[in-house]
Amino acid sequence: MEFATKTIHAAQPSEPETGALIAPLFQTSTYQQESPGCDKGFNYSRTNNPTRERLEHVLAELEGVHHAALFASGLAAENAVLQAYLRPGDEIILPLDVYGGTYRILNRVFQPLGVVIRQFDLADFAALEAALNSRTRIVWLESPTNPRLFVYDIAAIAHRVHPCGALVVVDNTFATPYFQQPFTLGADLVVHSVTKYLAGHSDLIQGAVLARDPAVFEPVKFLQNATGAVPGPFDCWLTLRGLKTMELRMLRHAENAAAIAAALEGHALARRVYFPGLASHPGHEIARRQMTGFGGMVSFELDGSFEEVKAFVSSRRYFTLGESLGGVKALICHPATMTHASIPAAARAELGLSDTLIRLSPGCENAKDLVADLVEGLAQIQAARASAPQQAAVAAHAG
Ligand SMILES: Cc1ncc(COP(=O)(O)O)c(C=O)c1O
Repeated sequence: MEFATKTIHAAQPSEPETGALIAPLFQTSTYQQESPGCDKGFNYSRTNNPTRERLEHVLAELEGVHHAALFASGLAAENAVLQAYLRPGDEIILPLDVYGGTYRILNRVFQPLGVVIRQFDLADFAALEAALNSRTRIVWLESPTNPRLFVYDIAAIAHRVHPCGALVVVDNTFATPYFQQPFTLGADLVVHSVTKYLAGHSDLIQGAVLARDPAVFEPVKFLQNATGAVPGPFDCWLTLRGLKTMELRMLRHAENAAAIAAALEGHALARRVYFPGLASHPGHEIARRQMTGFGGMVSFELDGSFEEVKAFVSSRRYFTLGESLGGVKALICHPATMTHASIPAAARAELGLSDTLIRLSPGCENAKDLVADLVEGLAQIQAARASAPQQAAVAAHAG
């Protein structure tokens, strides 16, 4: 079954009792038992729920494995993996670029418990080999990363990590299973902020963990019930609905991102444009090899002052200033003060996360409108700069 067909048909037969084409929402907390301990496979909705189970089956199909567990948010999913596998003294390796919340949970929750965090450029295989040791439990990566869209060679990393017995965890939120299949590249666990492209409509918060090996999955599945950060059935139903158009959405997101990157590259005010589809992107060749498209995100460094950046991100017509990404409606974000503000300024500077970085999540609008909105904003900055000396001169003259 091909991807688009899976999003519509996998684990989604018509409802047997009534023939309803779309499965009903099982909005229930508990289930009638025929006699104590004798149920129809469901006994309490923290443990399991038919709507949630259906979505878990679909997500597993999309990532090409058999095991998926849903959580109340992407971070709850991450927490389950970290809690399942990290003990005091254990080490985790991270790339330079990760979602700010991942940085925060590791540095503020797990490091105080004695977990050692090593963060460096995962493209540096010599550094990776030198860092790996018997205490390394997890190598955690995003590719493309949030927010600079760095691309890492997942297969080459897994090849180096596995001999030391550590797990490779890939946060596949940005790439999505549509453009990247981490299990075929050697990942042991995949995590998702389902909130983003999978749900796709900016109307819910949800996370998922997937695994190929049942033994690797089991501790995470245990924590789903034992710690209870589960999503409600209605949110699962909404994700099932959103998923049905995923291929169409992803194609449009990617098309829009490519058009925006092409328009920004070479623009006088775009100092650096981050988009894996650009031939100038350092990870372009790896992305071509390990992805089937370049994703829907674009970031760039605005060659301007902090004030100009603030004005630009706050005054776009179609790009709403807001956290998150991956929805049908375009979003614009200033990572330093928003998604990555939980990384202290000094650490951001050390990681190279500048205050002039802007992250774009084009939605499913028409590319012409999105490009025009951005180009217009950059032209406004240029016009304001051009008129500033004149205004200063007029003011000086008047004075
Ligand atoms: C790459 C990535 N992973 C994980 C998360 C966390 O997901 P959630 O916001 O659903 O908790 C985010 C959120 O922005 C993200 O961008």
